[in-house]
Amino acid sequence: MSVVIVVGAQWGDEGKGKVVDLYAEAADTVVRYGGGANAGHTLVIKGQKLVTHLVPSGVCHPGKPCVLGDGMVIDPHTLLEEIAELSARGLLANGELLIGQDAHVILPYHKRIEQLREGRKGAIGTTRRGIGPAYEAKAGRRGVRIRDLFRRERLRELVDANLEELVPVMQHFGGAAPTAAEVAQWIDEAATAGERLRPHVGDASRFVADKIGRGANVLFEGAQGTLLDIDHGTYPFVTSSSTIAAGACQSTGIGPSKIDRVVGITKAYATRVGAGPFPTELHGDAAEALRQAGGEFGATTGRPRRCGWLDLPALRLGVRLSGMDGLALTKLDVLANMPEVKVCVAYKLDGREVDELPTDLDDIARAEPVFASYPGWGSLAGVTQFDDLPTTTRQYVDTVQRLAGVPFYLVSVGPDRAETIVLSDPFRD
Ligand code: GDP
Ligand code: IMO
Ligand code: MG
Repeated sequence: MSVVIVVGAQWGDEGKGKVVDLYAEAADTVVRYGGGANAGHTLVIKGQKLVTHLVPSGVCHPGKPCVLGDGMVIDPHTLLEEIAELSARGLLANGELLIGQDAHVILPYHKRIEQLREGRKGAIGTTRRGIGPAYEAKAGRRGVRIRDLFRRERLRELVDANLEELVPVMQHFGGAAPTAAEVAQWIDEAATAGERLRPHVGDASRFVADKIGRGANVLFEGAQGTLLDIDHGTYPFVTSSSTIAAGACQSTGIGPSKIDRVVGITKAYATRVGAGPFPTELHGDAAEALRQAGGEFGATTGRPRRCGWLDLPALRLGVRLSGMDGLALTKLDVLANMPEVKVCVAYKLDGREVDELPTDLDDIARAEPVFASYPGWGSLAGVTQFDDLPTTTRQYVDTVQRLAGVPFYLVSVGPDRAETIVLSDPFRD
């Protein structure tokens, strides 16, 4: 038996959905940890595309439990919409879904306050899904949990207490105070959604612990990525949860000693959505070429993603922070037919060479990327064996592996489940 965590190594959108779907074949249970519907995980199976936001990306494997960890923040309406979409495709027909009863609830006022804040100078460029305000309420010990949706009086008290604090803030930012009728409707709709979700709600932590105890293969699915981690990312341009591998344990109440493998997912280049430092970012035609080739538009918001070269010092940071045993390198095909492929191998900071992305924003701003350059390569279509990759592609991959300091579990050469070069199996090797 093995317990494996899949975690993003960059700023999100590395292809976690594809890898989780692939590994779900060998897993008994798939557990999403952290974040909420800020995530958009894309699966392509035999040409059919599916995007998950809250439901784990193991959902295309009927009969396998899909768990939403207690550390998540869940918009019940978004979850119901997602369940309806998946059900229409014949998925989740066997009671696979289990929602942690202690996960926190995103309510309309969370989104409203975030919209007001994001409209101001210095915005983070969030997904505006209410993630930050819901985690703020949780840390402030006034959050609404999934279990509170089933006790209408308690729900009303909590919402009233929250609004007492938040309405003056809304007004301060030029927003309107919600009317009493509006608030009553929010409560009513949340309670109704809660009742519809109730058959799926339970003790997720115990469920996962029992699975592990019985020797099942359990797969944890991270959302976002290392550099968006609330403690270790490019703060304040981060999300509000622990996106690193340790977040899997924290979110689901599973002890770190139970984890066998951590697989980091990295693109063969880099992207970022929203504001914040991105030293290897490209601009103009070069960025546009990568964006078009990689289809780099947000799976959640549709925003064009910022694009740049792979940043190995940042990847090293990710490997260290999540204790990654190995990596999955995705989207290698996207670099095909580029006249030149570059990769940042180190930074120069105040005359010194540094091998990890600095953690201080001022240092990042002063750090100069040192690039290695490779001639481009041709199409990788149909390649299923590592040795069949063009020589320059293999040299590029070898450099990434050497400087990241850990081996590759797989190399992905297309969005489809089948377009994958498997090198080793984290559940066995
Ligand atoms: P996630 O949030 O980490 O799950 O990643 P997203 O789904 O937001 O973004 C990754 C995008 O790249 C999706 O559209 C995937 O279908 C696509 N994708 C994943 N792996 C590959 C690959 O190897 N090659 C190409 N061309 N696309 C890929
Ligand atoms: P997946 O799981 C890429 C980014 C937002 C913004 C910052 C904070 O698909 O990889 P938030 O709404 O979380 O408060 O926004 O984090 N962000 C993501 N970027 N992929 C994601 O998820 C992201 N989730 C949040 O763009 O910069
Ligand atoms: Mg995504």
